Amino acid sequence: MRTEITKEELDIQRRWMAETAERSAALPAKPLAFVDTYGCQQNEADSEKLRGMLREMGYGFTETEAEADVIVLNTCAIREHAEMRILGNVGALTHTKKAKPGQIICLCGCMVQRPGMAEKIKRSYPIVDIVFGPHAVWRFPELLSRRLQQKKRLFATEPSEGAVAEGLPEYRQDGPKAWLSIMYGCNNFCSYCIVPYVRGRERSREAKYVLEDARKLALAGYKDITLLGQNVNSYGKDLEGPDFADLLRMVCDVPGDFLVRFMTSHPKDAGERLFRAMAESEKAARHIHLPFQAGSNRILAAMNRRYTREEYLAKVALARSYMPDVVLTSDVIVGFPGETEEDFADTLSLVEKVGFDSLFTFEYSRRPGTPAAEMENQIPKAEAQKRFDALTALQNRISGEKHAAYVGTTQKVLVDGFTGDERGPLNARTNGGRLVHLMGDKSLLGQYVEVEITDSTTWSLYGKLKEGGNQGA
Ligand code: 5AD
Ligand code: SF4
Repeated sequence: MRTEITKEELDIQRRWMAETAERSAALPAKPLAFVDTYGCQQNEADSEKLRGMLREMGYGFTETEAEADVIVLNTCAIREHAEMRILGNVGALTHTKKAKPGQIICLCGCMVQRPGMAEKIKRSYPIVDIVFGPHAVWRFPELLSRRLQQKKRLFATEPSEGAVAEGLPEYRQDGPKAWLSIMYGCNNFCSYCIVPYVRGRERSREAKYVLEDARKLALAGYKDITLLGQNVNSYGKDLEGPDFADLLRMVCDVPGDFLVRFMTSHPKDAGERLFRAMAESEKAARHIHLPFQAGSNRILAAMNRRYTREEYLAKVALARSYMPDVVLTSDVIVGFPGETEEDFADTLSLVEKVGFDSLFTFEYSRRPGTPAAEMENQIPKAEAQKRFDALTALQNRISGEKHAAYVGTTQKVLVDGFTGDERGPLNARTNGGRLVHLMGDKSLLGQYVEVEITDSTTWSLYGKLKEGGNQGA
């Protein structure tokens, strides 16, 4: 059952926010917060909400731990390596807190929702004041207020199927790009993945709220909107309303000069309706991130992915038949339990066959509580590393070739960053999301410009502004 947090419950949080805002205003200087985000875009979107709530509570922002009155680490649980890094960083905060007594340290996100983790933090990390999982983000004002009033440490990591909270304040990152969450949670239970256990069941936001947000973003001048969900193709299955393909059309129909992308699609649900909607919507970016995870049918079955290699390849061919120029990116795991040399050869051959524009390659990480963690034949680290290197080398060659094919073409790109790099101080993105380095000054930030692609590397493109190629803001 899909649960929506009621207006009354959210009003209570608003009252907590007002109370903390009063407390902040009475301080000699504006209190400062530092929100540090690990992991995926869903976490980035949650952090924008946390920043929004902090801003309403009278906080300013800093990027240094030492200055912060409140530190929030929004954590990730997808791989063990990420968790080790986060716990190392938490340990290091002992010194920061010593130098600034009264500093409040909050840990939230997927890692703390993992069974046993809250107890571990309670025991081993006494400097942490507040611990709350992804289901309790909307209750952050209450947790922070309570901690400001009393010394007691607070933990809000009860297991939950999850709910939908509408109308929380948001403080978005600078720049022309915006995240727009359309659904939360995942029902797929891929056998290696911890996400369904920590983010709860799939729940969709009602289309009217998504469209309201899209209109606001367009009016505010955002030029690149990414619809977010763990599995966006499942959007709407729990509601009576549009499915994902229809929602995409509706968002693209919102007036304004912007592109719409989405992350992430599961191949089992991505199909003709979606590809047609993309092809028929001018504002839908020609980019699909379609994780395949493995090239061998035996491993795909053990992963509980519910498609075969042949079905995946057929979907790619179908997508390309609708959009010949579509940019395809993907995720893949090497070293899944029981993966033989032959299975891995199937992964290499799938990568070669598809020719992805780029690929996120991960070494399998054993996540306690998932079925794959209990499987026999866990692959030794050295072997997984060897496969990782071989796959990276192959993909680097393919990405290099894909990028080289852009040289000499003209692209409309969105300028979205400034690095100051000598060969191209501006960063921009093509419609399909490829990175272009560009000569030019900061005044072009946030604008679409026409560029000629002059050079390429494995990872990016270099471009030159075309005469009169400035398309305006
Ligand atoms: N080990 C390695 N990679 C993983 N991913 C998810 N769980 C694991 C795991 N246990 C990868 C998948 C997914 C991406 C976000 O992270 O490829 O698509
Ligand atoms: Fe994890 Fe699979 Fe759900 Fe993606 S679809 S979040 S990999 S369980």
